[in-house]
Amino acid sequence: MTYLLALDQGTSSSRSIVFDAQGNIVAMSQREFRQIYPQPGWVEHDPREIWSSQLETAREVLVKAGLAAADMAALGITNQRETTLLWDRKTGEPVYNAIVWQDRRAEPICAALRGQGLEPLVREKTGLVIDAYFSGTKIQWILDHVPGVRERAERGELAFGNVDTWLVWQLTGARLHVTDVTNASRTMLFDIHRNRWDDELLAALRIPRSLLPEVHPSAHVYGETDAHLLGKSLRIGGIAGDQQSALFGQACFSAGLAKNTYGTGCFMLMHTGTRTKLSTNGLVTTSAAQPTATPEFAQEGSIFIGGAVVQWLRDGLRAIKASSEVESLAESVPDSGGVMFVPAFTGLGAPYWKPNASGTIVGLTRGSGAAHIARAALESIAFQSAALLQAMSRDAVAAGGSPVAELRVDGGACVNNLLMQFQADLLGIPVVRPKVIETTALGAAYLAGLSCGVYRSLDELSDQWQVERRFMPTMPRGRAEELMQRWEHAVRQATLE
Ligand code: G3P
Repeated sequence: MTYLLALDQGTSSSRSIVFDAQGNIVAMSQREFRQIYPQPGWVEHDPREIWSSQLETAREVLVKAGLAAADMAALGITNQRETTLLWDRKTGEPVYNAIVWQDRRAEPICAALRGQGLEPLVREKTGLVIDAYFSGTKIQWILDHVPGVRERAERGELAFGNVDTWLVWQLTGARLHVTDVTNASRTMLFDIHRNRWDDELLAALRIPRSLLPEVHPSAHVYGETDAHLLGKSLRIGGIAGDQQSALFGQACFSAGLAKNTYGTGCFMLMHTGTRTKLSTNGLVTTSAAQPTATPEFAQEGSIFIGGAVVQWLRDGLRAIKASSEVESLAESVPDSGGVMFVPAFTGLGAPYWKPNASGTIVGLTRGSGAAHIARAALESIAFQSAALLQAMSRDAVAAGGSPVAELRVDGGACVNNLLMQFQADLLGIPVVRPKVIETTALGAAYLAGLSCGVYRSLDELSDQWQVERRFMPTMPRGRAEELMQRWEHAVRQATLE
């Protein structure tokens, strides 16, 4: 038997999964680690905890699987994206905690860059908007605020990496300083059309080039892990940021194929092939996982509050005791009774980009109860996703393609049948749930398997992808359109300042 090991380093936990070559899960191990909130708007991780929790899960999953490193054909890495680390090349000591993607401290730096008129340049080269979400301004913040760091960086003593780069550095005993195109594309320093770091952007952000890792395709034999870590050295055969990895694990390899991951937030990505056109509908363009050196692209939209709205029902409203109760509470009423819930707790992301929007519930009557609010909360995940997909379809049509024909789903909340059916009803296209919903880790395993010869082609992977359930739209289109209009109306009320 051939097996692949995937390391999935996420925002709240580190996970390792062993897959067989058919893409079935053999064993899984998970460790949560500390979230550090030094002040409002700031989010950090301890780089050492990222590494130790990841290594522990990798060791544990092999034990659980009853296998050894020698049984693994290769290892693939997928990771929370944009999270920024700087460390000393000689000692391996981080110069600061990892600044997490959710951290907003670099906003004043972004405002200054916007003020210099850099928005079109950034958009053209990187596909991104200038935002504190991405790594570039987080690097600049560390260089400017941690004493002595800029001088050390200018002397070439420091290394920058996202979490993938940090893990490879650790896995290889500081021998490799590398990343893949998908991670690089989230830094705001990378020209996604030429697959290379961009000197003009580096100069604009005052970031020394010597900090940066080497960039390779996502499927690539990067090197080998140190033998003592897992009992035998393992080939590192693939790296991709978690959302692009999920797109790959969903076998979305060509233009028009799209996936939505229903986690704390939701991330929707649509592959656009080897060509890209900047969105005119509020989406960012990003590098898709690349099996070869040829650039491939995706359009991406993120929703800040997805499954997190269920946490709010539990912890804020205390309408349920456990998140799993939401489906039965929502199902206890036939519909939301006209209640609309816009969970703009941290503003609204794509396609609205309204940072000052606030959470809003409209349409309450004397007859409204907790069940209606729970149902409206669940439906808000589908409404936000539908607005994103409509934006993607408009972009696809403007670029001469076709609207998205089906939506592949994964992530924790995709097990909620009520939500998936409502999603299909709103969209008017099938919502397809695969047998393996751990598609983020699966994508990394597939990339590693491709570079190491376990798979010969993408077709082989497409054939392997299997549907567990297809949710077909049943709601009349007129009704779905009316609901979308009511949603947009509620969004306008949430954005009144
Ligand atoms: O862009 C952020 C994203 O990569 C984080 O994903 O799954 O760790 O929340 P996750």
